[in-house]
Amino acid sequence: MKPLVSVNVPEEVYAALEGRPLTSTVWHAAQSLAAGKPDQAEAIVRRRLMRADAAADPASARAAFIYLLYLLHQQRKHEEIAAALCAPWSPMHNGGDPDFDRMYGAAISATRSNPLPFKRSQRFRELVRLLSSTRRVGGELAECGCYRGLSSHLLCQALAAESPTFGGAGFHIFDSFEGLSAPAPEDAIPEAHPDRERLAVMTKTGRFAASLETVQRNLARFPAITYHRGWIPFSFENLPERQYRFVHLDVDLYNPTRDSLAYFHRRVAMGGMIVSDDYSWPGARRAIEEFCAQNALRFTVTDFEQAVIRL
Ligand SMILES: C[S@@+](CC[C@H](N)C(=O)[O-])C[C@H]1O[C@@H](n2cnc3c(N)ncnc32)[C@H](O)[C@@H]1O
Repeated sequence: MKPLVSVNVPEEVYAALEGRPLTSTVWHAAQSLAAGKPDQAEAIVRRRLMRADAAADPASARAAFIYLLYLLHQQRKHEEIAAALCAPWSPMHNGGDPDFDRMYGAAISATRSNPLPFKRSQRFRELVRLLSSTRRVGGELAECGCYRGLSSHLLCQALAAESPTFGGAGFHIFDSFEGLSAPAPEDAIPEAHPDRERLAVMTKTGRFAASLETVQRNLARFPAITYHRGWIPFSFENLPERQYRFVHLDVDLYNPTRDSLAYFHRRVAMGGMIVSDDYSWPGARRAIEEFCAQNALRFTVTDFEQAVIRL
């Protein structure tokens, strides 16, 4: 009898199955992968996705698709991930937005990022939508916290869609390129937090480190990006005064979130906005709430836990 669980299967596949046992497709593919036959695993899953009746069981089609993305990332086949995201047989198109599927695939492929968790793509879609809503506002753009450059790539693609000659000019990236700084007491994850284990691993010093050279290579399509290497807030010192149209914060922790808000909020043009990614992280959330209360700023929270401050 087929076991209910298997090695080499990410949690997200089970989540897609909504409590049902592992499908035979994923189970057989996982066995092939465990036996050192990733090509065979991939063929099993692709066969399932391209079957004429593939859509008859949407949950198992989604599970197969997530497993395919996992397999492709394991094999570093990022161009194939981009193709799968846009394929007519994908059961997980992003809200019927083929332009975004294409952009997301291009960003995953350029930055060689993990496409899982898949649901993260909706947060990026919202980020791009928010950026587009500031289209008529003048000013430059900044991202604090880029990791491998996935969100930067998406933002730059959206700017290139607005203005085809955009090559990165006026887009500023602030990052240590050494990962997260040390967490503060405010970043402690409460015992009762539903996501405690995962967040505890994700808030460790040095997590999400990617070198400047790696990010420059990943974002080579936008050669005029300005990189500000260093620890926030020190990397804000001695910067020429600028007005910003849009600022994306994704530094996860209390101190750099607070310091980035303190630096940028008076430098965002009227009608512009600051979007902070990490409202679900205790430290970042506290920084946003405290800073907005102290400075009489209002913010809203998207369905994807992004705090949005409109200036
Ligand atoms: C979660 S990652 C960013 C992910 C990225 N925005 C994306 O969506 O692809 C967090 C980033 O914040 C940077 N970071 C965290 N604390 C920092 C600090 N104090 N100064 C500079 N960079 C910092 C890390 O180096 C890392 O690149």
